[in-house]
Amino acid sequence: MKAIIRSEYGGPEMLRMAELPRPMPGDDEILVRVRAASVNAMDWRLLRGTPFPARLAAGGLRRPARTKLGHDFAGDVEAVGSNVTAFEAGDAVFGSGAGAFAEYVCARATQVAPKPGNATYAQAASVPVAAITALQALRDAGHAKSGQRVLLDGAAGGVGTFAIQIARTLGTTVTAVCSGTNAAQAAALGADRVIDYTREDFLHDDVRYDLVVGVNAHRSIFDYRCVLGPAGIYVLVGGGGPQLLQAFLLAKPLSLGRQRFRLHMARSNHDDLALLGRFLADRTIVPAIECHYGFDDVARAIAHVERGHARGKVVIDIA
Ligand SMILES: NC(=O)c1ccc[n+]([C@@H]2O[C@H](COP(=O)([O-])OP(=O)(O)OC[C@H]3O[C@@H](n4cnc5c(N)ncnc54)[C@H](OP(=O)(O)O)[C@@H]3O)[C@@H](O)[C@H]2O)c1
Repeated sequence: MKAIIRSEYGGPEMLRMAELPRPMPGDDEILVRVRAASVNAMDWRLLRGTPFPARLAAGGLRRPARTKLGHDFAGDVEAVGSNVTAFEAGDAVFGSGAGAFAEYVCARATQVAPKPGNATYAQAASVPVAAITALQALRDAGHAKSGQRVLLDGAAGGVGTFAIQIARTLGTTVTAVCSGTNAAQAAALGADRVIDYTREDFLHDDVRYDLVVGVNAHRSIFDYRCVLGPAGIYVLVGGGGPQLLQAFLLAKPLSLGRQRFRLHMARSNHDDLALLGRFLADRTIVPAIECHYGFDDVARAIAHVERGHARGKVVIDIA
C-alpha cells in the first residue's frame, strides 16, 4: 500500500510517499481502507517532534519511533481481528488510528464508529479528534449547562468550529473569539456573539462567563480569570507553549477558591464517537471543511494547518 512517511523530525518537506506492506489487524483491531483523512495540529507537532518532551511520550528522542503520520480517517472495513464482533468487512466507519495518511490503517475497534449514511467520508474524517476534544472540554471538563454563558477563544479552527455547534446544542449562549475573516463562519455555526480579536478585546467587556474554553489560547491564564464569573470554570485545550505551561503550573493553585482551572486532554472512546456520529447524521454538527488536498499533497495540507489559521478542518482525499 501507499503511505506517507518520514524518517527524521522536521518540517513537511521531510514527508514522502512510500510503498509499504498492508498492515495486519490485531485481535481487537479492524483494518480500514481509508477514503479520507483529516489534519490536526497534533500531526505537525508529531512531525516536528515538538514540544520536545512529547518525544519522550512518542518514544523517539532523536528519531521518530513511528514513521507513519495521520490520525483521523473515514473509510471501509477491509478485515477485522478475531475478537471484533461490532464491525464486519464492507462497513463504512470513521475514527482514529496511528498512520491514517495511508491507503490502509489499523485501528482499535473501540476507536471507531459507524459512518452515517448521509455523511461523506470527508465529513466523517473531520470529526474524531477535533469534535471529541470540543465535546469533552465543554461537557466533561467544563460542565457546560443550559443557560450558561460560554466564551470560546480560538473558535475558527478544527476544534473551535465543533465547539460552537456543541455548545449551542448544550443550550449555552456562545461568544466566539476569532479574527474578522472568520467572524461570518462563527456566526453561521451558531455563535450568539463574535469578537474579532484584531479589533476588540474581550477583557474590556463587562460580561462574566460561566465557562471559558481556551481552544487556541493566546492570552495569560490571568486574563481568562478576569472574565470568569465567581464560580466559573476555565478549560485550556490548546494554544501557545506559555499558556500550556501556565495552566500546568497554576491550574491547581488558582482553583483553591470557587473558580476552577483545568488543562484538558481529550480521550478518544467509542461512546463519544458514536454520539458524534449521531450528531453528524441528524446535522447537530456539520463539519466546517475549509479545503481538500490530494493524497500526494499531504505536506502542503500539514503546512497549511501549521500556519495556525486553518478555517475549520483540512481534509485529505485518499481514495
Ligand atoms: N488538549 C487536547 O486534547 C487537544 C486536542 C486537539 C487539539 N488540541 C490543541 O488545541 C488547539 C486547537 O486545535 P485546532 O485543531 O482547532 O487547531 P487549528 O485548527 O490549527 O486552529 C486554527 C485556528 O486558531 C485560530 N487562532 C490563531 N491565532 C489565534 C488567536 N490569537 N486568538 C484566537 N484564535 C486564534 C485561527 O483563527 P483565526 O484565523 O481567526 O485567527 C484558526 O482558525 C491546538 O493548539 C491543538 O494542538 C488539544
